[in-house]
Amino acid sequence: MSTQARATILITGATGNIGTELRKILSAQGVLFRAMVRSAGQSKDLAALPGATLVEGDFNDEASLDNALRGIEKAFLLTNSSELAEEQQLRFVDAAKRAGVKHIVKLSQWAADLHSPVRFLRYHAVVETAIRNSGIAYTFLRPNLFMQGFLGFAKAISQGNEFFAAAGNAAISLIDIRDIAAVAAVALTKPGHENKAYHLTGPEVLTHQQLAAIFSNVLGREIRFTDIPEEAMKNALLGFGFPLWQADGLLEDYAHYRLNEAAALTPDVKEVTGHAPRTFEQFVKDYAPLFS
Ligand SMILES: NC(=O)c1ccc[n+]([C@@H]2O[C@H](COP(=O)([O-])OP(=O)(O)OC[C@H]3O[C@@H](n4cnc5c(N)ncnc54)[C@H](OP(=O)(O)O)[C@@H]3O)[C@@H](O)[C@H]2O)c1
Repeated sequence: MSTQARATILITGATGNIGTELRKILSAQGVLFRAMVRSAGQSKDLAALPGATLVEGDFNDEASLDNALRGIEKAFLLTNSSELAEEQQLRFVDAAKRAGVKHIVKLSQWAADLHSPVRFLRYHAVVETAIRNSGIAYTFLRPNLFMQGFLGFAKAISQGNEFFAAAGNAAISLIDIRDIAAVAAVALTKPGHENKAYHLTGPEVLTHQQLAAIFSNVLGREIRFTDIPEEAMKNALLGFGFPLWQADGLLEDYAHYRLNEAAALTPDVKEVTGHAPRTFEQFVKDYAPLFS
């Protein structure tokens, strides 16, 4: 029997930030899984992982989702945030229902809410509601701000010793994506996580000024944080190549952070995985060459 025939776990977003960490964990644990990718030819590193089988699929193509989900019992659902995300994820939930999938582990977001002023939080809540209504068992992973998001400032920090955002004095319990992937791996492979929502945070609540102090301590030189107006952040995001919808969404995220609505700590990472979530200091140490 081929590996593909036996894998009953499907990973979407397998080439992205969290998916890359998740597939490493599953492979190291000897778990068989199928990874949905848009291009098998461009995913040869993934195909080479022990336990992995590739299937080509696109969230915009219903038939490809039906094919990717054939014989699958548990699915990890992740797309990037774009104006298509809601319809793509709803299309996936419909296909999962047709395929008889028993459990969806959905990557959502901290404070997902149908009535949130933040567009990302609204679309995640719409998809969560559809999964609940589908009758398929679910685990919703609602992580706070990703530490790895600061890799976007690698050049600014390595060349100019600074980073910037419209963050004000916002205190945020940000999380390392390796801990999110660890929770996803448990939910996909162990029983007892059905019909639960996990609120995923790191171990500390930090302002951007405190993040700058940690960068400075670990990197051994002064790294400055500059609080910038929303308009300047929007121009910077557009300059980095973010589409307008996403740039506006990120500004909404930061307005929500400035209200200290993302400042709580939860024990969920430790309770699910058995280990404490990584600190920001650990994150900077592990990625230090990129900031140096
Ligand atoms: N950034 C944060 O601080 C934060 C915090 C909380 C929650 N979140 C949530 O995290 C999610 C993003 O996670 P991430 O950073 O791991 O994502 P990511 O790195 O952007 O990865 C997106 C994945 O989706 C795949 N994909 C995109 N379009 C596709 C399509 N049409 N068909 C099939 N696959 C497609 C990409 O594949 P390709 O390689 O083919 O492009 C990639 O594997 C979003 O839902 C966001 O709301 C983010």
